[in-house]
Amino acid sequence: MTPAGYDAWYATPRGRWIGDTEYALASRLLAARPGDSLLDVGCGTGWFTRRAAADGLVATGLDPDPAALDFARANSDPALRWVEGDARDLPFADASFDHVLSVAALCFVDDERRAVAEAVRVARRRFAIGWLNRTSLLYREKGRNGGSGAYRGARWHTGREARALFRGLPVRRLTVRSAVFLPSGTPSARLLEQGAPAALPWGGLVVVQGEKA
Ligand SMILES: C[S@@+](CC[C@H](N)C(=O)[O-])C[C@H]1O[C@@H](n2cnc3c(N)ncnc32)[C@H](O)[C@@H]1O
Repeated sequence: MTPAGYDAWYATPRGRWIGDTEYALASRLLAARPGDSLLDVGCGTGWFTRRAAADGLVATGLDPDPAALDFARANSDPALRWVEGDARDLPFADASFDHVLSVAALCFVDDERRAVAEAVRVARRRFAIGWLNRTSLLYREKGRNGGSGAYRGARWHTGREARALFRGLPVRRLTVRSAVFLPSGTPSARLLEQGAPAALPWGGLVVVQGEKA
């Protein structure tokens, strides 16, 4: 899939709803304020990075895919920073960013534990790392047998498995939340999403949020 094709999905009614729903959860969990800095690890075409920048954050996107970054650069405000790099070896000093965000990216990284440790290392205050959730309807539709479309090759975790990746790291107040319970995005799915507590473990995206100790 081309970067333009990938990003265009977020402009479809269903893609927009899923993106908005996931961003709303991450944003609520990070509780970032305008002017705070944020690193988006595995930013791809930068849809979430751009959303964070639109909320007034000083946003940096990192991804190993130069074509995705070219798209991100060409379709964003010049104030945003785009860095080619690997989640397992982030090219930043300790505590470089107020917040670290990652959405459905570390599930494509070999050695996720190292990538999680790196995300925690460069965070100064909070992080919100989202994984594809194996205990979700989304997994039943898109994740089985190696996955389909943009989900092909991803590792799907339960919230408990994702939380375990933070064991032994300098973190506190870990919480696990999820969103996108019915991925169809139909009117009834949207209604249910509004009433469903994010503490339920069945959303398509499961997010582990916490603070740097
Ligand atoms: C499904 S896309 C998610 C992109 C974006 N976060 C979003 O939600 O639209 C997965 C991303 O993970 C990135 N990725 C794969 N291996 C990576 C690595 N070792 N370090 C950082 N990002 C990686 C891919 O290049 C891709 O952009």
